[in-house]
Amino acid sequence: MERVKIGIIIHPLNTESFRDLFPKIYTFFGNWILKFLDDSFITHNIVRIPPHKIMHVCNLIHNNYEIEILGVLLPIFPRQMLIEKENTIKKIIDCFKIFEQENVNIITLAGFTSIVTNGGRDVSKMTSIPITSGNATTAVLASMALEKEAGRHGKKVRELSVAIIGATGDIGSICARIYSKKAKFLRLCSRTISDDSEICKKLKAEGFDQFVCFTDAREAVSDADLIIAAASSVDALLGYSDFKEGSIICDIGMPPNVSFEKSGLTSFPAKKTLFFGGTSELPFYKKIFDSKWKSFFPQNAIYGCLTEAIILAFSKRFDLVSLGRGEISSENLEGLADLILKYRIFPAVKYL
Ligand SMILES: NC(=O)c1ccc[n+]([C@@H]2O[C@H](COP(=O)([O-])OP(=O)(O)OC[C@H]3O[C@@H](n4cnc5c(N)ncnc54)[C@H](OP(=O)(O)O)[C@@H]3O)[C@@H](O)[C@H]2O)c1
Repeated sequence: MERVKIGIIIHPLNTESFRDLFPKIYTFFGNWILKFLDDSFITHNIVRIPPHKIMHVCNLIHNNYEIEILGVLLPIFPRQMLIEKENTIKKIIDCFKIFEQENVNIITLAGFTSIVTNGGRDVSKMTSIPITSGNATTAVLASMALEKEAGRHGKKVRELSVAIIGATGDIGSICARIYSKKAKFLRLCSRTISDDSEICKKLKAEGFDQFVCFTDAREAVSDADLIIAAASSVDALLGYSDFKEGSIICDIGMPPNVSFEKSGLTSFPAKKTLFFGGTSELPFYKKIFDSKWKSFFPQNAIYGCLTEAIILAFSKRFDLVSLGRGEISSENLEGLADLILKYRIFPAVKYL
């Protein structure tokens, strides 16, 4: 039996997610205590809490593997990470120390921990343990899920236009490369995108010029059939009315790029399909009974970053880690896609 131990750095997205998670993680506190704490108190004080272990999934046997997943909480919100970058990096290194003591085989950087470290590149030398942002697997899973969902609606991707929000980013640029080979037309969006952006040059060098750039997310999605929303924005950018009828939207943003509040709705009416993507269905999900795990993953929709760490730990292919922005080679991307198939990992589609 082979033993694999995976570390994941987790952080709350905002005070709302903190209020939701807090009583589930620290059960001895209970829900009532939060009633006495206002949002500004939480925001001000959360950064005083040092990183610490919050989840340990163990005794998990799958095929020939004994799997352990160790979650360390980085108590800081994305908005604060962007402002206090240096302090955040120091805390991420403290998380690494916890993982080193625990002898984990690979560390994955969830959510904004990857964004503030340049896709993990800035901290990859700060520990002897391989680290990954998991972005390539996230992009592959989001692309697979969107294509599957289009098929379910009887749509053929090669006849459709695909908008990618956050197209200059790590995940967005991989999605753009994937869909340049499948879709009829791409609508690429980021605040700073232009024909001179790396992703545009790359697509042209590969012989694809059927795309147009937008700096406004609403304009980009207004005439798109399929949408991958992968912007690293702390606030939602899009609402229901921004999309055309029949469109299918895969939001992978953490925090989400698409909000119900922006639309004045509590759920998306059926004429447009919105789901949270970039996630996977793990074949051993049903064997996990850990209550903390269930509070992070109440459904079998596991972040792409964690999925990547799991398949790399199984295969010991640490040469395939995702690091940096726009750096993943086509060979590595294919290598990861093969591992996804090999370990029978399927894209999750969590409707919103
Ligand atoms: N679902 C999952 O399992 C999963 C896993 C990993 C990451 N994620 C999430 O995926 C998202 C993208 O991650 P990443 O690593 O690819 O980030 P990244 O490399 O930092 O790229 C972010 C992209 O978003 C664009 N952007 C930021 N704000 C924008 C705005 N207001 N309007 C339009 N574009 C905007 C950026 O370009 P400009 O600066 O030019 O605007 C860039 O193109 C993040 O929310 C992350 O938390 C999800």
